[in-house]
Order: sequence, then structure tokens, then C-alpha cells
Amino acid sequence: MTKNSSRFFCKECGFESIKWIGRCPGCGAWNTFVEEKIPAGRSGRGLGNDSFQEAVSLSGIERRQTERVSTGLKELDRVLGGGLVPGSLILLGGDPGIGKSTLLLQMAGNLAAKGQKVLYLSGEESLRQLRLRSLRLSIEESQIYVLNDSDLEHLERTLEKIEPDLVIIDSIQTVFLSSVDAAQGSVTQLKECTARLMSLAKSSGKVFFLIGHVTKEGNLAGPRMLEHMVDVVAYFEGERNYHYRIVRGVKNRFGSTDEIGLFEMSAKGLLEVEDPAVVFLQQRGNSAGIAGSAVVVSFEGSRPLLIEVQSLVAATGASYARRMAMGIDQNRLALILAVLEKKCGFRLGNSDVYLKITGGVFLRDPSVDLGVAAAILSSHQDKPWPRQMAFVGELALSGEVRPIPFLEARIKEARKMGFTSLVLPKGIGERERSLAKGMQLLEVRDIYDLYQLFLK
Ligand code: TYD
Ligand code: MG
Repeated sequence: MTKNSSRFFCKECGFESIKWIGRCPGCGAWNTFVEEKIPAGRSGRGLGNDSFQEAVSLSGIERRQTERVSTGLKELDRVLGGGLVPGSLILLGGDPGIGKSTLLLQMAGNLAAKGQKVLYLSGEESLRQLRLRSLRLSIEESQIYVLNDSDLEHLERTLEKIEPDLVIIDSIQTVFLSSVDAAQGSVTQLKECTARLMSLAKSSGKVFFLIGHVTKEGNLAGPRMLEHMVDVVAYFEGERNYHYRIVRGVKNRFGSTDEIGLFEMSAKGLLEVEDPAVVFLQQRGNSAGIAGSAVVVSFEGSRPLLIEVQSLVAATGASYARRMAMGIDQNRLALILAVLEKKCGFRLGNSDVYLKITGGVFLRDPSVDLGVAAAILSSHQDKPWPRQMAFVGELALSGEVRPIPFLEARIKEARKMGFTSLVLPKGIGERERSLAKGMQLLEVRDIYDLYQLFLK
């Protein structure tokens, strides 16, 4: 027994300490430690399963118990690795208002239409609000049961009564266990509740979805620690003022994490985007052929995505120049600007640089570097690139344009979308050339080559 009946936890990552610390050794955040009482009889036994279990033969486990169930949304199935796995606990994170409740209610509607029973625990909204949303989404399934109660013990009783196939907890930050002596939404409550839900999922073989809010740093508020406790973690991304939404898998015990699901928010809920290339380029409209615009072939998940990058380089009016990136990491913009300055002799010190990926999506693929540089170049020199030209390539600090993966798929997609030339890293083979079928492939060794191409 320890003398301490309280501990300090980092609100960001859940790091535990017996004394207060200014900077978290776990995640490096400052001033995030809060004191919380340790609940009596804390087990620390993981799943909290007391009963002794016999070991069984792996091949003896029925195949049926491992079959996936489709959510009725192809884009969501894709992120989950092909559908819902029985007995799994899935965490869906995202900013408030991005569409988490909408997505899961639509999924509930699909499953209920197939005869499955769904229990939706709403700790955030009243049942009337939930009903309003379901009316808006035209979901009229009697197999969806709703509960406006944040007590997990009450949930357990409801589970026994209703025996649902799927349970949605909206949100994990609002539920609590009365046996745990800590405030609702505290680190201790979050951990204990998630552990309890995990053991419920494993013992019942049902699917549990947890909705979690994200702070502005992009971490789940407090519970980044939940990430390692659950089976699947997916984040909902997108700018609120745009229609497009991406569901990105960051952890999946049953599949690849490289997948994304694309949705569009409409007046009737979330619509699946099946041909992303077409949708994203539609918005391009008149800006093609304007200085500061370039199209990149980014690879998100297992699909190529053609997206327009826009840049504005303008003389600064302030004492220091502004750099603003929307849709790519700010540091990457800084790096590309530094390479342009050093290798092409640009003086950008007195210029504000704004960069924007259209459609409100965030691109992580480093091969958009070349297109970003192309857009900046074009705005700086006030001269457009040819209308049907696209760019792929990663920039090294040396200014070199590095080879990139999935080149074949990118070439095919660019050609399919009617692009007549593609600027890409030097060193392509016969196979790529034959795939291009008439589309011009312009190889560049480094950023200076790109500049020369631009001046032509
Ligand atoms: P919501 O699912 O409540 O977000 P979250 O649960 O992530 O906080 O939905 C958020 C936004 O979606 C809200 O601003 C309204 C909008 N919306 C639509 O545009 N169309 C719809 O059919 C619905 C239900 C919501
Ligand atoms: Mg919600």
C-alpha cells in the first residue's frame, strides 16, 4: 500500500506521476499536470477480467466469429479494413462539429436496415436533438435504441436487456463509472471507462464505437492514452467551412492504417465520394491558368488524388514577412521556401507567402512538395503554368527532387483526368513511359530544373 491516495496525470497524454511536474516527460507539453484521486481498489489488471480462462486452440475458433460486417458505407469500411470486426472497440476522434455523430448515426441506420440492433448512448445531446438529426437524415429505423444516460453501469444493464449488435458511445468524455472516485471527463474516468468498455466488447463479441473530441493541438482531449487501449483509431479531418471530410485510420489491429475514407457534407448528411479526382478538380474552375496555381497528384490512402495548390506571394506591409500554410504542415512550407531561396536565388525575405490546398483537406504526402514549389514560383513571377500540367516529387534539402512511390498509379490518374504533361523526378523507366501514352513526362533533377522549365 502506498501512502499517496492521489496522483498527477498529464491531461494531454495521460502520463502518470506521483508529484507535479511542469513539463510532461511523456509528450513534452507544459503545465498539463492535474491532480486526481486514485480510486480505491484500482486493479491495473488491464481488461479487468477476473474469471480464469482455459487456453484454446487457435484453429478451433469458429470462422464465423471473425467475419466482418459492412457498415453500409464503403468509404468507412475501407478505413476499418473491410468492415466491422466482432468484439472490437473503435475510437472515432475529431473536432467538434465535424460530423462524427452524423456519420455514426448514418451507419446505425444502415445496420438497422439490415436487421441489426443498435444502441446509441448520447451523453452530449438530448434525445430530441438526436431525433431531429435522424429526421434530417431520413433514418426511421425502429431497431435503433437511444439512451440519454452517462452512467456506464446503467449502460451495462441496458445491454443485457436490449442485446444490441452495435453500441455507439457519444462521447467517451461524457460517460462515467460511479464506482470510480474521480470527476467526469477526468483522466482516471476516461481510462477506467475505456477499459470497462473494452472488456465488454471482448466478452460480448459486439462492436463498440467511441466518439472522442480533439483539442486544437489535434490530440484527443486528454485521452491520447485511449489510442493504445482500443483496437482501431480513426480521425475525422477537414475544414468546417468546406464540404469535404476525410476519415483517416491511424491505428488498426485488423487492417492497414494507410486508408482514408472521403465524404462530402450535404444537407442530407454525409455522402460518399467515390471518384475523388473528379470532385476535387471540379472546384478548380477558372483558377487554372492563373499565376500561383498548380495541380499535384497526391497519394492519400491507396488512391491518387488530384488537387490544386494555390499560392500568393506578395510584398509584405509589416516589419516581418508572414508565412501561412493551409492544408500542409507549416514547417514543410518553410523548408520549401528555404530551398527556393538558396537554389534559385529568390529573395523572399520581404514577401508574405500564403499557401492553400483547395477543398479544405490536409495532405501529408511529401510528394506534393514539387507542386507547392511550382505554385510559389508561379505567383512570385506572376506567370501561370500551362493549364493541363501536374506535378509530383519530394524536395530534399539539397534542392534535389527525390523519387516517389506509386508513380504508375499517379501517371495513370493524371492521364485519365486529361492532363497533357506531368512534371516528375528524373529517372523514370520504360514502363512508366509506356503508361503515359502520349502524355508528356517532364523529368526534373532538382528545383533549378523546375525553374528552367518554368522560364521556357
Ligand atoms: P455533428 O455530426 O453533430 O458533428 P460532431 O458530432 O462531430 O460534433 O455534425 C456537425 C455539422 O454537420 C453541423 O454543423 C451541421 C452539419 N450537418 C449538415 O450539414 N447536414 C446534416 O444532414 C447534418 C445532420 C449535419
Ligand atoms: Mg456530436
